[in-house]
Order: sequence, then structure tokens, then C-alpha cells
Amino acid sequence: MAEPIKLIIDTDPGVDDAVAILMALAVPEIKILGLTTVGGNVPLARTTRNALALLQAAGRSDIPVAKGASRPLRGRFKYAPQFHGPGGLSHRLPDPSVDPVTKGAVEFLYDQVTADEPGEVTVVALGPLTNIAQLFWERPFALEQAKNIIVMGGAVNAPGNVTPKAEFNIYSDPVAAEVVIASGLPITLVDLAACRQVGISREQAMGLRSDHPMGRLTLNMLQGWFRKEPSRQRFEFYDPLAMAIALEPAIATVTKVDLDVGLEENESWGETSESGGPGEITLPLEVNSTRFFGLLVGLLELKGF
Ligand code: BDR
Ligand code: CA
Repeated sequence: MAEPIKLIIDTDPGVDDAVAILMALAVPEIKILGLTTVGGNVPLARTTRNALALLQAAGRSDIPVAKGASRPLRGRFKYAPQFHGPGGLSHRLPDPSVDPVTKGAVEFLYDQVTADEPGEVTVVALGPLTNIAQLFWERPFALEQAKNIIVMGGAVNAPGNVTPKAEFNIYSDPVAAEVVIASGLPITLVDLAACRQVGISREQAMGLRSDHPMGRLTLNMLQGWFRKEPSRQRFEFYDPLAMAIALEPAIATVTKVDLDVGLEENESWGETSESGGPGEITLPLEVNSTRFFGLLVGLLELKGF
């Protein structure tokens, strides 16, 4: 990693969100300016609590957490406790003793992205895109100052994971996704086709150990997730891949696409399909899984991989 990276992580923790955040925390040269939360995997109160609890467990309560949207731009969130557990994390963390900052997520994002010289801050969005869309709506020029915006979301040329066509983050707030995707901002969309290239089997995951504090927390999440449900055989590193691409873009080959988001309330709700025209959205294609796992294992000092 050549230059120090300044990051804001917009997130709905979430087991895989937690792993992605721990990866970033394990990189000494990264300055995490803050976490902004959004409802998604579980309700907003819980994603915010989880963000604070995770930072505390990692000894990083100095990183501010700003609370964002509890509802999508249209409708209500349909949570995913069946995957992440009723509390959103597969490992119980002590309740945080720190509160979120008083500023809301949108204002916090605005202040952080515009505080430095343009092109310094990377935004990594790991949940529904409600906060990001709201900022774009309210102050369209702010996010132009971001270096880039890495989004985990979509199922472009792949089956969805909520419906046959839709991926969870986009399905949760397609109206926001449409705003962000059509914004002309420098978006990289790390979709399910990319993420499915980096999974780990139960056997492999259960054999891992680490003496690194972030590594231990990661394994508590990962192994806890497998323990909760004996039929689970594979964990896909959705949000961690988006984080890895933010840290080392060369992990994946990419193409440029133009995308449409399904906004009709039928089976295409939340679908992300190529519109056929030339586009400005960066879409990862082939993921170098060896390099991804090298980064994960190296940062978190995982042993037994
Ligand atoms: C995405 O949905 C959430 O459940 C995960 O945290 C990830 O961001 C994968 O579709
Ligand atoms: Ca997530």
C-alpha cells in the first residue's frame, strides 16, 4: 500500500461488515475518519450499537460513529436476522460505553469529505445506500470531492441473494441505489458475481486461529456464524471484498458499465442490469482470490489457512 488512505465506512453491521471494518482497523497506515450507520441487516439502533461495540472491542472508541437512516427512501427495510442473527452479529460483544456523535450521518459525511483537499477520502459503503443518496441529493457537489466510492451491492450478471434478481443492499433501498448509480460519481460496485469468488468453507474457517486482536475478533464472528447453524457450509466475504478492493484495487480486473436499477414493485425490484450503453460505473470482474486471502490472512495474522 503506497499512500495512507483516509476512509469513511458507511455500514449496517452485520457479520461481514464487522470483518471488513476489522480489516481496515488492522492497517496501521489507514486513518478511519468515522463510521456512519444505516439500517439494513438489522434495525438502525442495532447497527449503530454494533458499530460502537465493535470499535470498543477493538480498542478504537476514538473513531466516531454517526447515526444515519432508519428507513429507506421508499418503504421500510426488510432485515436479515436469519443470516446475521437477531442482534446482527454472530458473536456477543459487550455493550458500548460510548455514544454516537450528535451529528447525523449525512452531515458527518459532508463535513469529512469536504474537510480535506479534494480526492483524499475514500467512502466504503457496505449497506443500503440511503445515507449516500441523501447526501448527494442535499449537497450534490460534496461527494465529487471523494477520491472514490466503493460500494458492496448488486447482482449484475449473477443471481441475487434476496430474490432471483436482487442483491440485499440494493434491494433494501433501490431508490437510493438508483440515485447513487446515476450520479456520475466515481463508483466501484463490488457485486455478488465478484464476492462469490471469495468464500471460505466451514472446515477451513473452523481451523483458523490468530493472536492478533483484530484477527481474534474476526474469527469470533466467522466461526460464530458457522456454529449458529450446522447446515452452513460456506461464508462469502461480501463486504470484506469491497474493503479489500478499497485497499488494493488491483485485486480485481474491472470493466466500465452503465446500470439500471429495478424500481418497479414486482420481481425486478432492486435488480441491477446493464443498460447496454457506455458507462462510468467500475465493475470488478475477475477477483484474484489468492491476493484477497493473502491480504486477509496477512492483516489479521490468521494461522492455519
Ligand atoms: C450484503 O448484504 C448484507 O447482508 C451484507 O452485510 C452485505 O453487505 C450482501 O448482499
Ligand atoms: Ca453490509
